[in-house]
Amino acid sequence: MLKLKSTLTLILLLAGTSALGAQEAAQTFFETNCAACHTIGAGRLIGPDLHGVNERQSREWLVKFMVDPTAVLASGDSYAQELLAASNNVPMPKLPGVDTKMANALLDYIASKSGTILEPAPVEEEIPFTAEEMNRGMDLFLGTESFLKGTPACISCHNVSNVGGFFGGGSLGPDLTTVYSRLGESRGLSAWLSSPASETMKPIFKDAQMSDSEIRALVAFFSVNGKDGVEPATQKASFFYTGVAAAAAILLLFGFLWRGRFRATRIPMVEASKR
Ligand code: HEC
Ligand code: HEC
Repeated sequence: MLKLKSTLTLILLLAGTSALGAQEAAQTFFETNCAACHTIGAGRLIGPDLHGVNERQSREWLVKFMVDPTAVLASGDSYAQELLAASNNVPMPKLPGVDTKMANALLDYIASKSGTILEPAPVEEEIPFTAEEMNRGMDLFLGTESFLKGTPACISCHNVSNVGGFFGGGSLGPDLTTVYSRLGESRGLSAWLSSPASETMKPIFKDAQMSDSEIRALVAFFSVNGKDGVEPATQKASFFYTGVAAAAAILLLFGFLWRGRFRATRIPMVEASKR
């Protein structure tokens, strides 16, 4: 009886808070799934600033786009093409969990945040990256320095041409050599990394979030990649390649030492088969 009563109370409580809950749920969903690429009133990241987006397009179009941006882009929709061109040709991915209901909740949430008149965003002063930050970023990328919360090293899935090239790095994720310019430099890339919009990375990074200083170090590292003639952390890189060269030399040495082994088993076998 007591159990039934408490269940009832719980149901009533849930019903009472559901309107508020939907708004909160939309906000949480936005922060974990959209904030990597969008702000509401703080300027463009990878995607457009969504402040006032409800006035730019019909609700119907927006819902259709949010539920399946890939399909809308593929249909040749001219507004979507314009948006794509303005976004450095990085398309919005189809995001799991965005159905018609969630899309509407998100647009309501965006509308509620769009009411206020925008103050011009304060001009953020860009603090130049230091050599230590770039080196640390490389260590984090390679896994020679561990992340505070145990985020897996990027090299297990990614490659960067002037670092992992010899080993080939991981190939599950895309090559990140030019990611700095592709994903909107410091501002865009930092936002992306604080809630990665990748189906593979999101579940891992949710419980192993990187700290701000770790993200800054990685962005510093990426900022020197893909630029012609700039070698990040030359000293470390040569240390790294020395290690690679040593490993290769050892392999060759063993290959040489064991050169007889192959024949030693093969020759008697061949001989035996002749008999
Ligand atoms: C990986 C980056 C990325 C993520 C994550 C992302 N978007 Fe986008 N979004 C874009 C880009 C880029 C565009 C511009 C259209 C295009 O190129 O596909 C866009 C366009 C839009 C538009 C149309 C904007 C306009 O000006 O008309 C809406 C609305 C939108 N996104 C909502 C969302 C919502 C809500 C989420 C979270 C559920 C989300 N986006 C997640 C990158 C992203
Ligand atoms: C478990 C594998 C895995 C790990 C570990 C991983 N990533 Fe990823 N990452 C991916 C995959 C896969 C994609 C492509 C998007 C997708 O399919 O989900 C991706 C996409 C990206 C992108 C977007 C690239 C683009 O061009 O759009 C960036 C940036 C990125 N990863 C950075 C990192 C960084 C930095 C680390 C280390 C802190 C890291 N990743 C660790 C699998 C991984």
